[in-house]
Amino acid sequence: MPSTVVVGAQWGDEGKGKIVDLLAQESDVVCRYQGGPNAGHTIVAGGATWKLRQMPSGVVSGTTSVIGAGCVVDAQVFLDEIDLLRERGIDPSIVVLSGNAHLIMPWHVTIDQASERRLGSLQIGTTRRGIGPTYADKASRIGIRVQDVLDPKILRQKIEVALAEKNVWLERVYGVEPIELEELAARYEGYAQRLRPYLADTSLLVDRAIREGKQVLLEGAHGTLLDIDHGTYPFVTSSPTVAGGACTGIGIGPTRIDSVIGVAKAYVTRVGAGPFPTEIEGPDQDRMRELGGEFGTVTGRERRCGWLDLVALRCAVRLNGITSIALTKLDVLAAFDRVPVCTAYELRGGARTDEFPEHQSDFHSARPVYEVLDGWSSELGGEELPDAARRYVEFVEKLLDVEVSWVGTGAEREQVLVR
Ligand code: GDP
Ligand code: IMO
Ligand code: MG
Repeated sequence: MPSTVVVGAQWGDEGKGKIVDLLAQESDVVCRYQGGPNAGHTIVAGGATWKLRQMPSGVVSGTTSVIGAGCVVDAQVFLDEIDLLRERGIDPSIVVLSGNAHLIMPWHVTIDQASERRLGSLQIGTTRRGIGPTYADKASRIGIRVQDVLDPKILRQKIEVALAEKNVWLERVYGVEPIELEELAARYEGYAQRLRPYLADTSLLVDRAIREGKQVLLEGAHGTLLDIDHGTYPFVTSSPTVAGGACTGIGIGPTRIDSVIGVAKAYVTRVGAGPFPTEIEGPDQDRMRELGGEFGTVTGRERRCGWLDLVALRCAVRLNGITSIALTKLDVLAAFDRVPVCTAYELRGGARTDEFPEHQSDFHSARPVYEVLDGWSSELGGEELPDAARRYVEFVEKLLDVEVSWVGTGAEREQVLVR
């Protein structure tokens, strides 16, 4: 399939990085279409571990890697990852950055941190990387874009205008130190020199690649339930994470997309606050976290762990138009004798539904209805899955009416069963 979207089907950390890296071996271009350094993608290949935040996961295999207009970019993180590529022997000229992407400026990071502190127990639990404030300024049409660094005069003027307002907010509303203009302008002029070589018209580049029949992967960051419109608002990120976002985020039409791969863990994790019906109560949660290494790549926070939720996953199939599923981390479930899978929710008043509740209060109070499947105690190393593991995968396929085409059996690039 010439162009394929790879999208997280849960609340993030589904193993998108690993699946994109795997598929990148056979691709010509890999594109990130939204989000920024709030993403944390771990890729284990050839004995080396990569932890990427800003770059598309295609960089690990040296594939042309595009950061689209829908992304937000922290210049320092971007340049650090460019240095990392160089250190590891990958020519950074494979990276192409859209001039229309918005820059995460230092005030965005400070405001994200300060506003979370102010919210106290009501906080979202953001990654505190400035994501929300950057997208808010983009929507308010006062953001600074990557292309603004091309002209030192424009850049300085934009920083000056922004600071005149942001510093009032920082001091008066959040009670933190204002940001000094000269030092900041000088720092960004330095970044400008280093960013310039990576800028290109990424919409044109990707459209051409698709027309030429090249294999293009469009990589979503975060997960479907963190989508700004369709996720568990307000406990979401600030961009469209669903597959449709690939079109707007890169600048290609929907007719250019051929297939959508949904990446889902064989269980569920969530970082940050917000409702989570299948969150495990008791010691099995800690056990799953330890076995699955469920600690945030960006923040190191403990990920909350729960059983597979097929109600939420069915919703993800719908929202993204998922045509096949990559089910990751099935190996982690080998430690459990019995594996509950949520097939429906019980709502207030006792009604049952197998569709994701549209109203947030219904979702907050939804109780999972489980079917308990047999576990498998053997390791998942061979060509075939043990019977009980295969039944688990087939159960998912049957309830979602979508094929599971890949099964993750370990963190390494090769640890995947292709079905
Ligand atoms: P992403 O944000 O969706 O790219 O996912 P993360 O990289 O944040 O988290 C997934 C974690 O699971 C990473 O540490 C991966 O190395 C690891 N991983 C991915 N697939 C598998 C798998 O099939 N089995 C195991 N045990 N680990 C996996
Ligand atoms: P990857 O790409 C898991 C969550 C945060 C928080 C909410 C808003 O690795 O799957 P933000 O900083 O985006 O404003 O935070 O979204 N979140 C993620 N959770 N994996 C991610 O990325 C996430 N990106 C954001 O924990 O609840
Ligand atoms: Mg992650």
